[in-house]
Amino acid sequence: MKIIVTTTQSKDIPDENIKLFLEDSGLTYIPRQRKSLPALTAENGADAVIVWEDGRPLLYVDDQKFFFHPSMAKNRISGMRHGLGYDVMAKACGIETGDSFLDCTLGMGADAIVASYLSGGKIVGLEKSPGIYHVIKWGMRNYRSRMNWLEDAIHRIRVIPQDHLDFLKELPEHSFDIIYFDPMFRKPLLSSQPLAPLRLLADPAPLSPEAVSEACRAARKRVVMKELVTSGEFERLGFKLYPGSKHNRIGYGYIDID
Ligand SMILES: C[S@@+](CC[C@H](N)C(=O)[O-])C[C@H]1O[C@@H](n2cnc3c(N)ncnc32)[C@H](O)[C@@H]1O
Repeated sequence: MKIIVTTTQSKDIPDENIKLFLEDSGLTYIPRQRKSLPALTAENGADAVIVWEDGRPLLYVDDQKFFFHPSMAKNRISGMRHGLGYDVMAKACGIETGDSFLDCTLGMGADAIVASYLSGGKIVGLEKSPGIYHVIKWGMRNYRSRMNWLEDAIHRIRVIPQDHLDFLKELPEHSFDIIYFDPMFRKPLLSSQPLAPLRLLADPAPLSPEAVSEACRAARKRVVMKELVTSGEFERLGFKLYPGSKHNRIGYGYIDID
């Protein structure tokens, strides 16, 4: 996918932040010159355009807009802070204070942010799709909030643009306490509108048995996968269904490391 970078029509002089982003991403900057985004995209033979808006990247692809926003993670953490029950993903992972957490499928980063908030330890997120990586890494990096607990949790996450199998193969044994997978569902939940732009950009491949086996070698405590309970993926890949997941459509499977 060819992605170009530009500014908004009103702020068409690139600032220091965009310069850093361009250096890091290696993407090409195209001056806006008051052109529409479809015109700019077509003229440059691009598939998508990143607009630097209010200090963060927004990616426009087809009719969809993709940007980093931590609202899902914020709601989940707020629920715990107000005593409204413990997060199911966190329970399935068995996250304890100080645990290191490798999120092999970062996406919007909601699960990684929840893990980061609860553990306060080393958190790494891997993302294979370049469009998602650029937007989420820089959206996280430039995210500011009066809620220090949220900002700290987000800034603790190290985002790496890599296929998880390649990354896992290079890891020594017992490198992370918890290793987590949330691949794109085999059958998308049509009701999940917030995920629509992500679906256009995401790598849809199923999780491979090799990645699970490498994760089991590289994990200290537990390997966890999120999937639809009826997908057959837990059985195919050797995960036990986490208790309590049975009545929900979405479940968590786990493999404990001895
Ligand atoms: C369902 S989303 C993850 C959502 C995420 N758990 C969250 O809380 O926002 C799956 C993500 O994993 C990425 N992905 C798929 N296969 C991958 C791979 N082999 N290595 C790294 N990332 C991968 C996709 O591009 C997509 O962004």
